Amino acid sequence: MIPVDPQRFLSDLHALRAIGAEGTGVVRPAYSETDIAARAWLADRMRAAGLAPHFDPVGNLFGLHPDGGGLLLGSHSDTQPEGGWLDGALGVIGALEVARASLESGGPAISVVSFQDEEGRFGVTTGSSIWAGVRPLDEVDVLTDAGGTRFAEARGRMADMADDFLDPARFSAFLEMHIEQGPVLDQAAEAIGVVTSIVGIRDMRITYTGQQNHAGTTPMHLRRDAVQGLAAFATALNARLAGVVAPETVWTIGHVSVHPNAASVVPGAVTFSMQWRDGDADRLDRMEEIIRETAQETAADRGLEVGSGPMLGLPPVAMDASVQEAFAGAAEAEVPGRWRRMPSGALHDAASVARLMPAGMLFVPSIGGISHSFDEDTGEGDLVTGLRVLAGAAARLG
Ligand code: GLV
Ligand code: MN
Ligand code: MN
Repeated sequence: MIPVDPQRFLSDLHALRAIGAEGTGVVRPAYSETDIAARAWLADRMRAAGLAPHFDPVGNLFGLHPDGGGLLLGSHSDTQPEGGWLDGALGVIGALEVARASLESGGPAISVVSFQDEEGRFGVTTGSSIWAGVRPLDEVDVLTDAGGTRFAEARGRMADMADDFLDPARFSAFLEMHIEQGPVLDQAAEAIGVVTSIVGIRDMRITYTGQQNHAGTTPMHLRRDAVQGLAAFATALNARLAGVVAPETVWTIGHVSVHPNAASVVPGAVTFSMQWRDGDADRLDRMEEIIRETAQETAADRGLEVGSGPMLGLPPVAMDASVQEAFAGAAEAEVPGRWRRMPSGALHDAASVARLMPAGMLFVPSIGGISHSFDEDTGEGDLVTGLRVLAGAAARLG
């Protein structure tokens, strides 16, 4: 058993929460001042624990065990533009406590990681997927965030800290603790989810271009209104997907940028995010065909031009069987009968790291199933149970 210290874990978790705190939530988007400050703080905490901090060229922060590797535990410390205090942070601070306690007690070699831009300012689990070779760095460097900033410029803000990419072969397996971010465990009053698989995701930007014009003088039948195009697309898409999707399939238009975004102007252009997720790669393909056809047809009907950006994404991935067994054994020892195996509908760094080494995840409940919101929270007892199960699994695998 690795003798973790729950009070030290909770104290570090609250110290990280304070960096970028906004009410009950946190604002620490990737490469922002608060994100970089949090990574610098985390590097200090790693050093104090006897782990050697190492930043790679994209800002992934590793805390290396003196042996240089061993098990790798962690998650991410960047947040959504309006993030909860636990999404990512829980897995990073839990990892720090387990690695620290293991080092102090002569336990297995454990290193820690906080991946960069898991929340997808520039892509889909950007930092871990570059490390995993999903997309080469030079291709990612030219991607832009919703405000037009290039990835190369953003990661340049951490250039003074950056060292080389680490060889993943130094690590034996990856374990990530995370909040569930959904209602299942909370509603069932269960303490732990052992993740079986992570959904696949695709994400692209679509632009409609029409004719910017005066909102008072332009007759309705002469308008080429980009926002009307978006509204028609969203409605038509819902109807067309109905015959293809499963109950667990999801699709989201979450970011919209209207030009020139003024009440008295017929919108000349709109760019919006189109994201969809499912556990079946064939269904993701079929949805992509429907999305592209619907975008084209809606544009043609309304005299709009349509364009699209690069397709980003990750395929569905199963979690490693031996890591699942380690989590299951630790969960049954800690909370007998109060855990379950379950798939993840949220995306996680484990989805990209699974390309490099055996990877697995454990979930703790999210109160009310709320996440990606300032209202995100988890009971303290559940956080500590998660820590103990993470430590139990690491001891089994180490
Ligand atoms: C990651 O936070 C996701 O979007 O699932
Ligand atoms: Mn997360
Ligand atoms: Mn998230």
